[in-house]
Amino acid sequence: MKISIIGNGAVGNMLAVSCHLQKLDYQVLTRRGLASELKVTDGHNGQWQMPLPVAPLSKLSQSELIILPLKAYQIADFIEQNCSLIQPQQTLVLLHNGMGTIESCQQLLPSNNLIAGTTNYGAFKPDSSTLLIKGQGESHFGWVTQQTDCHRQVIEQVLSSLLPPSTWHTDIRLALWLKLAVNACINPLTAIYEVTNGELRAERFQTQIIAVCEEISQVMKYLGFVQEPKALLQRVNKVIEDTADNFSSMNRDIVAKRLTEIDFINGYIVKQAQLCGLACPVNLNLIKQIKAMERHYLPY
Ligand code: PAF
Repeated sequence: MKISIIGNGAVGNMLAVSCHLQKLDYQVLTRRGLASELKVTDGHNGQWQMPLPVAPLSKLSQSELIILPLKAYQIADFIEQNCSLIQPQQTLVLLHNGMGTIESCQQLLPSNNLIAGTTNYGAFKPDSSTLLIKGQGESHFGWVTQQTDCHRQVIEQVLSSLLPPSTWHTDIRLALWLKLAVNACINPLTAIYEVTNGELRAERFQTQIIAVCEEISQVMKYLGFVQEPKALLQRVNKVIEDTADNFSSMNRDIVAKRLTEIDFINGYIVKQAQLCGLACPVNLNLIKQIKAMERHYLPY
């Protein structure tokens, strides 16, 4: 089973480390395709270095499993630009914050097998060749479509071993919604107020978080995923505790003047709410504030 990991981001590099340690057959595909070294710091082995087998995207067809640890807003573009290189028997794996990409993937590649996943492993790249892995996380995966015969068991085994422990779901959407709720509360607030996740324990943030959870709970209920606002709040606050010293990915994006995933996080919630005829003023307000910051930072 040959694995392609797309891009040189933190989650992609974490997958590469796991493949390297398990001696799996894998390649990291980037536009330029220049092989390089990766300096890794993790809790188990301290600081060490490994070669990163980087190849150009033209090698995309030479693998059975394609993992896409890209930002949500990069997925549709990536597939559109590379669909001539993707074969129908290849299985794709989506692994990012936010929702809304499954739909575009299915539209663009209707014949491919598709898996969606979510992980709470944390990693950070202070520069392009250094990866800091922050402790142990857990992952959730589920088949969205299985159109062609594939090595289902082998694929599940391989994916489970990359970011363990992993749970496989018959319907991954609940796990994705639960992670979406966590991101919808933590990410915009930490970005707007320039605070760590732990600072969201303060009452002024908790009031907003409770309101966001109430809106999400309403939408989820309408879609058949019953989750009381209290249960969502508990989940969000657990992540706030577990990652108290971290800055969220949206906070980092705003600091680095990069586009954020807001359209696929709170934006996805508002879109689903509109389809259900529900209002989400608190989520909408967070989107407006992040968009205003993006407009200020980005050159368009
Ligand atoms: O996007 C992030 O930063 C993470 O998904 C999370 C869970 C909010 C922790 O920082």
